[in-house]
Amino acid sequence: MFIGLDLGTSGLKALLIDEDQTVIAETTAPLTVSRPHPGWSEQSPADWLTAASTAMDGLAAAASLSAVRGIGLSGQMHGATLLDTAENVLRPCMLWNDTRSHAEAAALDGDPAWREITGNIVFPGFTAPKVMWVKKNEPDVFAQVAKVLLPKDYLRLWLTGEAVSEMSDAAGTSWLDTGKRDWSDALLAKSDLSRDHMPRLVEGSEASGTLRKELADRWGLSADVVVAGGGGDNAASAVGVGVVNAGDAFISLGTSGVLFAASDAYQPDAATAVHTFCHALPGTWHQMGVFLAATDSLNWYARLVGSDAAALTGELGDTLRAPGRTMFLPYLGGERTPHNDAQIRGSLTGLEHATDRAAGTAAVLEGVTFAVRDSFDALASTGTSFDRLIAVGGGSRSDYWLKAIATSLDMPVQVPVAGDFGGAFGAARLAMMAATGAGAEIAPIPQISKVVEPVKDLTSAFVAAQSRYRQTYQALRGLS
Ligand code: XUL
Repeated sequence: MFIGLDLGTSGLKALLIDEDQTVIAETTAPLTVSRPHPGWSEQSPADWLTAASTAMDGLAAAASLSAVRGIGLSGQMHGATLLDTAENVLRPCMLWNDTRSHAEAAALDGDPAWREITGNIVFPGFTAPKVMWVKKNEPDVFAQVAKVLLPKDYLRLWLTGEAVSEMSDAAGTSWLDTGKRDWSDALLAKSDLSRDHMPRLVEGSEASGTLRKELADRWGLSADVVVAGGGGDNAASAVGVGVVNAGDAFISLGTSGVLFAASDAYQPDAATAVHTFCHALPGTWHQMGVFLAATDSLNWYARLVGSDAAALTGELGDTLRAPGRTMFLPYLGGERTPHNDAQIRGSLTGLEHATDRAAGTAAVLEGVTFAVRDSFDALASTGTSFDRLIAVGGGSRSDYWLKAIATSLDMPVQVPVAGDFGGAFGAARLAMMAATGAGAEIAPIPQISKVVEPVKDLTSAFVAAQSRYRQTYQALRGLS
């Protein structure tokens, strides 16, 4: 048996699978985000440990854990967990969606070495600019920093006693030489840090340590349970949904949205605002377009019109409409791919007397769809090929939305059978690899329950609307 722990932003999930990868039990414990100032987004690392204890206690109550051989970790990326020499947490963790360090990010990004070595823009959400913000605004805290850990790696420190990270999450710090899969001494030195401040690196499918005896005893595990490197939540989800070979891709319509493609080569092109990160398996990379408000856009609109997301999408029926004049830009909290624009905000334009609630819903779904197409084009421009696209996440329950995406991309979208193929499942698969020596062969694509085809009559209408969407961004960016 194997356990996957996924430290998400809104909760921590623990999932137990058997040797056939059947899910035996799962539990979640909620987490909250604190936003003390505009642009800030923080969590207390102590809350992660409480959530992990609660979720693991629940898992141990639901099933015997005595046959567990490995634990894998998945987690929200980019957070800066700052520890002193005694491993005390120095301040709340600044999360992936904390944009306060946009000036520091722009300053680092102005030095070409960062893009050259990491293969990525230094985005405001990434770890290095956050630590630079602390250096400037909280110099006493910075002076005490002995280790910088990513969220799931702080969880690992508690589980194993070891400061270790793995390549996929480390690639989101801005300190990794992503092609060489090693910390960049040059970039660390530019941040007044050194390799000593960083955790040791392993591959996601390798062992990073073993579970501490005290915790093994508490949950009824045996003494030598391996804790695998695991992955950043997107890489771990990719392992969960079997996107481990070049040509395979998934689109995740969650709070934020991600278009993720696996790759067997390192082919960065930072200027596209595509993320090029290591994958969780050795010798593989992945590319990712990130659009920050996916189901968040629909939920925002549902709140505005006093409805809920399922009722709104239900109201549209199953027949895809051609995009109308009403246009929604889903930039509620700025955008990463393809704009790297933390200042832009969303908009609804082209409103007319006839615009009703359903027209607004269609516009919101179309707006996120156009953001998907922008990311698709950005990934394709770097040479990434899409042979297969799988849809996951809450938004993929809307057939209407998937039809819009399939039509906009002019390629079929595959929907897996009901099941949990997220970060926790991927992490459990990585635990299985670390404990048994297996590789990508144990991470197949799940059974596909349906394939949503493009609506051919509407592809040209979607192409035309995409062009208006891009023009709208250009027109609005000067205003914000
Ligand atoms: C990826 C990213 C998010 C977080 C949140 O770059 O910022 O997907 O990992 O889960």
